[in-house]
Amino acid sequence: MKFGYFDDANKEYVITTPRTPYPWINYLGTQGFFSLISNTAGGYSFYKDARLRRITRYRYNNVPIDMGGRYFYINDNGTIWNPGWSPVKTELDEYECRHGMGYTKITGKKNDLKVNVTFFVPQDYDGEVQQVVLTNEGSADKEFAFFSFAEWCLWDAQDDSNNFQRNFSTGRVEVDGSVIYHKTEYRDRRNHYAFYSVNDAIDGYDTDRDSFIGLYNGFNNPEAVIAGKATNSFADGWSPIASHYKKITLKPGETKTLVFILGYVEMPQAEKFEADGKTINKVKAKAMIEKYSTPEKFEEGMKELKLYWNKLLSILSVTTPDDKVDRMVNIWNQYQCMVTFNLSRSASYFESGIGRGMGFRDSNQDVLGFVHQIPDRAKERIIDIASTQFPDGGCYHQYQPLTKKGNADIGGDFSDDPLWLILSVSAYIKETGDWSILETKVPYDNDMSVAQTMLDHLTVSFYHIVNNLGPHGLPLAMRADWNDCINLSCFSDTPGESFQTYTNPKFAQEGGYSKVAESVMVAALFTYSGPNYVEILKHLGKDEEAAKAQAEIDKMKKNIMESAWDGDWFLRAYDANGEKMGSKECEEGQIFIEPQGFAIMSDVGKDQGTDLKTLAAIDERLNTKYGLVLNNPAYTKYYIQYGEISTYPGGYKENAGIFTHNNAWIICAAAYAGQGDQAFKYYSEIAPAFTEETSDIHKTEPYVYGQMIGGKDAGADIGQTGKNFGQGKNSWLTGTAAWNMVAISQYILGIQPDFDGLSINPSIPHEWDGFTAIRRYRGATYNITVKNPNHVCKGVASMEVNGQAVDGCIVPITDGQKEYNVVITMG
Ligand code: BGC
Ligand code: NOJ
Repeated sequence: MKFGYFDDANKEYVITTPRTPYPWINYLGTQGFFSLISNTAGGYSFYKDARLRRITRYRYNNVPIDMGGRYFYINDNGTIWNPGWSPVKTELDEYECRHGMGYTKITGKKNDLKVNVTFFVPQDYDGEVQQVVLTNEGSADKEFAFFSFAEWCLWDAQDDSNNFQRNFSTGRVEVDGSVIYHKTEYRDRRNHYAFYSVNDAIDGYDTDRDSFIGLYNGFNNPEAVIAGKATNSFADGWSPIASHYKKITLKPGETKTLVFILGYVEMPQAEKFEADGKTINKVKAKAMIEKYSTPEKFEEGMKELKLYWNKLLSILSVTTPDDKVDRMVNIWNQYQCMVTFNLSRSASYFESGIGRGMGFRDSNQDVLGFVHQIPDRAKERIIDIASTQFPDGGCYHQYQPLTKKGNADIGGDFSDDPLWLILSVSAYIKETGDWSILETKVPYDNDMSVAQTMLDHLTVSFYHIVNNLGPHGLPLAMRADWNDCINLSCFSDTPGESFQTYTNPKFAQEGGYSKVAESVMVAALFTYSGPNYVEILKHLGKDEEAAKAQAEIDKMKKNIMESAWDGDWFLRAYDANGEKMGSKECEEGQIFIEPQGFAIMSDVGKDQGTDLKTLAAIDERLNTKYGLVLNNPAYTKYYIQYGEISTYPGGYKENAGIFTHNNAWIICAAAYAGQGDQAFKYYSEIAPAFTEETSDIHKTEPYVYGQMIGGKDAGADIGQTGKNFGQGKNSWLTGTAAWNMVAISQYILGIQPDFDGLSINPSIPHEWDGFTAIRRYRGATYNITVKNPNHVCKGVASMEVNGQAVDGCIVPITDGQKEYNVVITMG
């Protein structure tokens, strides 16, 4: 069942009922000011850091779900409603929500009054602009009371949700005409305030929540709205809010437009107040309000936003035989990649904004998805990440976006982390041809006095693996590898211990983790990422170092084949007791997804047919109609030697859930192995546009990936196997976005930036006649036509560039050339 439709021409998803199976959200903002907005206008705003600079309040895991947001209320002669349906939930005569690129439009109609609200955060602007267009579509005059509503957060979202003894006495506001200012702590230690304005005279306001809503009422029936009139309350402690009240009369056919602005302002210490030393200096706020004070200025801002997104999205656009692929590649997958760039894993409807900082591995992988759109910012991001590395190649697992410093509470020793840096730096060079990044001086642990070049960072990354091998010559698993929930050194039996950071006394002497437990996943990631390091060295003429590194890769491949090939697939790990994990010999968890794709893509044991055998086993044991499960059979009991993975009931998260992130690795591997049909099958099982038809089962947004989909074992624990099979969770902020972008664009469509130019080597469904693509790359435009007359899955029979036949798959770069017309014939 669907709850809307894609409007590709406008790059929008149009939601046609407010009762979506879960709140379906969008993000506004691309620089400092961000908002989350659901299809019923729920959500909140923050400036740069969702924990430390939260502007409006939001209550997670609320009952009912998604209560709280920026709301407009209408009291039309006793009929009370919101244009976004919630929170009053009066049945509307018409409802529509259009989530677009950086904006959301919500329209509601009731008793001939149509209200359309467009929300967006303009470029270079620290505020959410909301344009409300009210139209009387009836034949009689309409007279109604109109209210806005936003609830202020007292800045630090974590403190705001627990330090009530203090917070109930600190809230402060100011009202100046139609502008309500939030200035809690501005007098003392803060130099920022927020405001909520409207570009018209008002008939009243409320700034105290309990006066507006009533202590025993809710967002769904605020007393002031019921009374049809604001109380002009002035907050002094408790919970400050901002609500404008306006009496409006519209003649038949008449329209009224109002522009509201929810803004954030920072002031230099010396200019914080007016001459009286008390009243806040509103100069900046007034300039912000002025900037979008008319519908014309609003339109101008929207136009700029559209140009910004059109430019970003035009770097790659494809026309394939499947419009679902086109809308993923051209619009939504790229859009989601940019959202993960902006938000990392901080704030979504599943991430509360007070939890995690930026992840070392997460942010490096995100780069793979957006580097083509914003290479300069990708470079800056890569340098920030590498700056949290230690001189031995290990690294902080997370860092804080405001300080950019490594997070000591979480520490390091995640075995996979360093390798992702090799991949992100390589992706940056492959995209831009800018080798100078390797010469950039980058600190260790943010200490510039021990800075070395980025190339040195890659070297220590590579050798951090080589220098930390276990008994089988495979990389030590440490606290965890990519799978945060395989914790082979933890042996935790006490509630509350973090599986990732707890050090079991039994390993304290050994540096905190077992020197026996090994990760085959990291071994395969090493053989997959390592060759990039080797190529970089060769390019720099460092042949000896390249040969030395290559020898390590070859040795690792040998070790994998000797100790980690289980006959039909690759093992997952050796645990701290030296026992195999992910083997046929295991009772449960016999096969895991994570090592397989990387091993296949680095040709480990290819001469023995490991690639096709492994792919066959994956298809048989892991594939389902909703995607590939992470492991099989699911764990049904707690294995203290494995850690968090076995705490999840089977079918969820890392325990046999469909973890869409690593599905992409198999899509890539199948495409790499020439199995275009398989690759596309796995791609379409999880790509959001393909799940649209089953939105009732999938539940989360059909335009973006979620981290996890319930696997085939979901519900088995309660005797209802398959209960939540196919149900998505944790949408938006996941490495799935970047990796599936890579999978479809670079592996299936085969348009892959390489060190020496753009490589084009598709691996597509055999029934496709071909496809076309436009790719902007290193300052030139590539018009690509792929023909598939013989209906093969893979194979480039010939390539022509500007009419000339060219050998191989890489389009040679000609200096100064601005346009490449590339025709590929498969066969
Ligand atoms: C989740 C993982 C996540 C980790 C972060 C675990 O509970 O299952 O997906 O990466 O927490 O620490
Ligand atoms: C989500 C985390 O953000 C990511 O770092 C990790 O690799 C996966 N979960 C798998 O555990």
